[in-house]
Amino acid sequence: MIQTVGSSQLWHYRECLARKHRTDPISTLHELHYRASQAKATTNSIASFLLLLHRISLILSLISLFCCLAEREAMGYWREATDIKGPSGFGSGNTAEQVTEGIDASRLTVIVTGGSSGIGAETARVLALRGAHVIIGARNLEATNAVKQNILNSIPSARIDIIQIELRLLSSLKSVRAFTEKFLAMNLPLNILINNAGVMYCPFKLSKDGVEMQFATNHLSHFLLTNLLLEKLKTTVEKTGIESRIVNLSSVAHVGPYSEGIKFDKLNDKKA
Ligand SMILES: NC(=O)c1ccc[n+]([C@@H]2O[C@H](COP(=O)([O-])OP(=O)(O)OC[C@H]3O[C@@H](n4cnc5c(N)ncnc54)[C@H](OP(=O)(O)O)[C@@H]3O)[C@@H](O)[C@H]2O)c1
Repeated sequence: MIQTVGSSQLWHYRECLARKHRTDPISTLHELHYRASQAKATTNSIASFLLLLHRISLILSLISLFCCLAEREAMGYWREATDIKGPSGFGSGNTAEQVTEGIDASRLTVIVTGGSSGIGAETARVLALRGAHVIIGARNLEATNAVKQNILNSIPSARIDIIQIELRLLSSLKSVRAFTEKFLAMNLPLNILINNAGVMYCPFKLSKDGVEMQFATNHLSHFLLTNLLLEKLKTTVEKTGIESRIVNLSSVAHVGPYSEGIKFDKLNDKKA
């Protein structure tokens, strides 16, 4: 049923309502309570929305902070694991042969230390494949001769020489000097020096000179070798006009040193 009300009826109705509110405190209280709860509900939903925004922005900030921190730490490992290409266009999934494809290295003489196995042996093989004259510095002559023979089997024209070198003990740095003397006596140019030989995670041990083994092998011995060959590298550039290179094999682990950096004053301290 549709009820039609005139303006006087409407006025009367409003008056009744007003009176009722004035005279009926319970009903007024109910309405106030209802309005308050309505307002509270609105405030609550705005507050929850703002809280949600706040939480989202907090999570996003944490993610971006994590990414920034992780980027430095994990990028190397991430690149290695996922084969992301670097600026050169190559990544961890590429082989040495792919990287050197089309390169004529026949005018280059290269020294590679630690060519008896692993990366050194493969580096020597691929450089020889591209025509370079490769001098392998190695302490294990038997294993290195086998490497050389393998290379010659697949690349009969390979130019490979082996010179013994022991990089382990500081006191045997005379071995590094002897290596250099033998190489210089060959009267060859030197375009590239690849400091590849190295040890990692070896048990803590000090050399006779009191220097931690890994540091002595990977760094100090190669530091001396590089210095002894520096002049040769420079004169080769002058004579051939070909830029020279010194390549130090490293590790992605370099992204995670101690927070305060390398503890140079505690290198030989087992507890550090
Ligand atoms: N493979 C990886 O995933 C990786 C990761 C990070 C860094 N690297 C670095 O890459 C380089 C090559 O690694 P790799 O995996 O090919 O290692 P590898 O197969 O163990 O070969 C290391 C080479 O270094 C030589 N060497 C070790 N100590 C020596 C010493 N005192 N005097 C002379 N030669 C010594 C070894 O000769 P002997 O046969 O006589 O032992 C061997 O020829 C190292 O510097 C390593 O730290 C490798």
